[in-house]
Amino acid sequence: MKSLFLDLSKTEGFLASHEMQYLAEQAEAAARLLESKQGPGGEFLGWLDLPVDYNRLEFEAIREAAQQIRTQSEVLVVIGIGGSYLGAQAAITFLKHTFYNQLPADKRGGPEIYFAGINLSGTYLQHLIELIGERDFSINVVSKSGTTTEPAIAFRLLKSLLEKRYGKEGARKRIYATTDLEKGALKQLATQEGYPTFEVPDDVGGRYSVLSAVGLLPIAAAGIDIAKLMEGAAAAESELRKPFAENACYQYAAARNALHRKGRDIEMFIYYEPRFYHLAEWWKQLYGESEGKDGKGIFTASAGFTTDLHSLGQYIQDGKRHLFETLLELENPGGTLLVEPDPDNLDGLNYLSGKSLDYVNQKAAQGTVEAHVAGGVPNLRIVLPEASPYYLGYLFYFFEKACGVSGYMLGVNPFDQPGVEAYKKNMFRLLGK
Ligand code: PA5
Repeated sequence: MKSLFLDLSKTEGFLASHEMQYLAEQAEAAARLLESKQGPGGEFLGWLDLPVDYNRLEFEAIREAAQQIRTQSEVLVVIGIGGSYLGAQAAITFLKHTFYNQLPADKRGGPEIYFAGINLSGTYLQHLIELIGERDFSINVVSKSGTTTEPAIAFRLLKSLLEKRYGKEGARKRIYATTDLEKGALKQLATQEGYPTFEVPDDVGGRYSVLSAVGLLPIAAAGIDIAKLMEGAAAAESELRKPFAENACYQYAAARNALHRKGRDIEMFIYYEPRFYHLAEWWKQLYGESEGKDGKGIFTASAGFTTDLHSLGQYIQDGKRHLFETLLELENPGGTLLVEPDPDNLDGLNYLSGKSLDYVNQKAAQGTVEAHVAGGVPNLRIVLPEASPYYLGYLFYFFEKACGVSGYMLGVNPFDQPGVEAYKKNMFRLLGK
């Protein structure tokens, strides 16, 4: 089985080898602290064991619920915010057809899937309700705390729509709750109403929860093989314990820390395949919310190339030198389209005749890396063998563990998010709560 590959060759000239050597010991020490669960936030490290130590009975129940949704409903609305939806959306965008929701039902083979409770926009929700129209829909409401305002409001409205349409009993057959099994308003409501309920483990925080029921139910409802996803994550769990020299996860954590110490305050997640779009969103939350605290942290940003080369490219090439890039690539993007010959050649593209679009995209990536490195932007490159559930599971775990290691190296608690409360306090005061 091929593995994920980390290429640090384009950090030469920005990082001396002794700088990485110094950080190798720190990365291994941070990993030991993480695995011991004795460091800051150690009570939220359940995600470390999820790929090997998960509830098999619940896993089967998730598959059954997913099957039920697939046979019963034309639309699934996943309600949740932050860590409660980003992983699922990342997986679906990465593994399914680019235009999954727009495909004819027989080609899609499962429900259209939309996300709600991800903002407070009345227009967004209204348009979603219009889009659902008269069609049968199910809800997976996901909230660990069960009290988050955005999903709670969306759930109130969509639940009421279901109840008006199918009555309380019919609604019950279309609502699945994913929440803390002990406490919280959603748990209470789910128990009272008798909704099938799945667990957000107590010791797993939102942004580390994609391999729990939080991510697994919507991912399975999209028809993705969640057993393979867990298999890939389990391979990562075992491989990413190796010593620094053989461990891409620790090397990634060390390289980004080393660059950050030299004034590289912004990490740009770069991709050339649009299927990575939501994975970048998931990654931005994971690292941004885990490390941005105590006046420290790398600011996480993302760009999809070549699209954004025509908008952000100028800044990256020539602007302030406080950036580095982490490029995520697929060894085999899987496209089959070729540039066709044209007898008139008015567009001058015949030199590409017979070449695949993937080839052209790859050359664009190589040329861009060369240009950006020459322009003073270090580049870390992560190559994934292919877009499959197995490798996505591997990648999720890779980024999560690297984030824990990196956060400890930075000297923060990567498992809390105290800063998120500030806007809520003000909003509640202004709303007269
Ligand atoms: O990572 C996190 O902890 C957050 O993004 C939460 O997942 C998010 O705020 C939603 O919280 P909850 O699942 O409690 O509604």
